[in-house]
Amino acid sequence: MTHKAWWKESVVYQIYPRSFNDSNGDGIGDIQGIIEKLDYLKDLGVDVIWLSPVYQSPNDDNGYDISDYQAIMDEFGTMEDWEELLDEMHKRDLKLIMDLVVNHSSDEHKWFEESRKSKDNPYRDYYIWRPGKDGKEPNNWGSTFSGSAWEYDENTDEYYLHLFSKKQPDLNWENPKLRQEVYDMMKWWLDKGIDGFRMDVINFISKVPGLPDAPNPEGKKYASGSKYFMNGPRIHEFLHEMYEEALADYDVMTVGEMPGVNVEEAKKYTDPERKELQMVFQFEHMDLDSGPNGKWDLKPLDLRDLKTSISRWQTGLHGVGWNSLYLNNHDQPRIVSRFGNDKEYRVISAKMLGTFLHMLQGTPYIYQGEEIGMTNIKFDSIDDYKDIEILNMYKEKVEEGNEDPAKVMESIYVKGRDNARTPIQWDASENAGFTTGEPWIKVNPNYKEINAEQAVADEDSIYHYYRQLIQLRKKHELIVYGDYELILPEHDKIYAYTRSFEGEKLLVVTNFSEEEVEFNLPENVDFEAKEKLISNYPDADDNYQAFTLRPYEARVYKGV
Ligand code: NOJ
Repeated sequence: MTHKAWWKESVVYQIYPRSFNDSNGDGIGDIQGIIEKLDYLKDLGVDVIWLSPVYQSPNDDNGYDISDYQAIMDEFGTMEDWEELLDEMHKRDLKLIMDLVVNHSSDEHKWFEESRKSKDNPYRDYYIWRPGKDGKEPNNWGSTFSGSAWEYDENTDEYYLHLFSKKQPDLNWENPKLRQEVYDMMKWWLDKGIDGFRMDVINFISKVPGLPDAPNPEGKKYASGSKYFMNGPRIHEFLHEMYEEALADYDVMTVGEMPGVNVEEAKKYTDPERKELQMVFQFEHMDLDSGPNGKWDLKPLDLRDLKTSISRWQTGLHGVGWNSLYLNNHDQPRIVSRFGNDKEYRVISAKMLGTFLHMLQGTPYIYQGEEIGMTNIKFDSIDDYKDIEILNMYKEKVEEGNEDPAKVMESIYVKGRDNARTPIQWDASENAGFTTGEPWIKVNPNYKEINAEQAVADEDSIYHYYRQLIQLRKKHELIVYGDYELILPEHDKIYAYTRSFEGEKLLVVTNFSEEEVEFNLPENVDFEAKEKLISNYPDADDNYQAFTLRPYEARVYKGV
């Protein structure tokens, strides 16, 4: 039996503040810029805003390297601005969830500055320090952002662990004092009135004791240590403790970002009985277009893989935990360029992808710009890219590894995180109306055709279609809570499924290709349509049992 909850019935909108809206002309988005756009978001119909980090940070990783958890980044504004934002949101009945980045801090955090001073400093044990092994790093783990996961610090002749950049040292969750500091900080924000947290790589916080070398069959310079820190031995204990110590007294929403989580683990994280989290961000569907060598190893999506994966999550968490539903965020390429077609079928395919996602069971997340069908970017020069992951990878492969720069650029065009980080295209004026200054990262040149002003004015736009999708979810509990069942599992172009709830049913049929394909409702599917709820082709007819789907067509029928 699924329990009802406000966060299950909500639609979340993610803001990546640096690229959202600049109010003061310094080329960087800011909090006042967000306030200016709250009515736009309210009109879209979302309920919750997840704000990527706005804390003080040297910005090695755009705010995911925090030097003060209780202060606002100067470029974004002041604590007063932030309080005004929360106020203005609550006035509009919008909820705010903050990003919690506590697997690591910045190396400029005062804890780390103390920690590196001496081996007996009271903060030493807030981080993970080890002596070298045979004059080398303590183990062979590689960092997500290229190179070793260890950095040598001359001062005390030891190395510290950083699973991300060397300016993001990992916090030591084995230390109860550190854990208490984190819980206190969380309560400080909760007492300010926020409505929850999105927790950055939160399933990385428990490392296998001894930090063993990772298997390295190919003899690479550095290996992936992920099995020694993803979903580690004490993770459930830590998250349960966090719940008891920081969250239990508040009616808030929590979602944990969890690379490498599978359904079985996710059940444990999200089962309400266990009192850990409410949702996780899993990555399976985001990894389906990667080859064996990871994200830069490009591979076309096979729709059947998407069905297998999504269906496993839909049925796996049903009645136990709760799914988060997303196709975009600040780390992923734009979905219309990725699983859709960002050329002649941009509008149609973006609507199809939105339909596919928003009709599933779970809480949908929209990433800024998705609602107007923003696309990937191709900068000619590597110098125009800003993301540390891209820049480090390019350096490692091209400058140090002599790989073909054109091939590496191709993978950046397809998978690079800056695809999602170009400024939001508000209108057709200079710099897309994002800033009156020089934007911190170049604007996508297609802003004259693709922008929010155009989308709001055009009733057939992706924006208005998303509004409808959101409204449908509010109107029909079936869309929120219904059971999911996949149909036509073997079809390589059509993704179709049903939902059922208290005697009502939904039929969702989507064409993931630019070809025309025949849909025939299988005889064993017991469904009788009463009305067509939505379609991305306005002239779609009521014939739900057998019809020809046009390129990227999506239809949703409600019935019994
Ligand atoms: C996941 C965040 O979403 C990403 O942007 C960041 O680089 C890493 N975690 C490290 O904090």
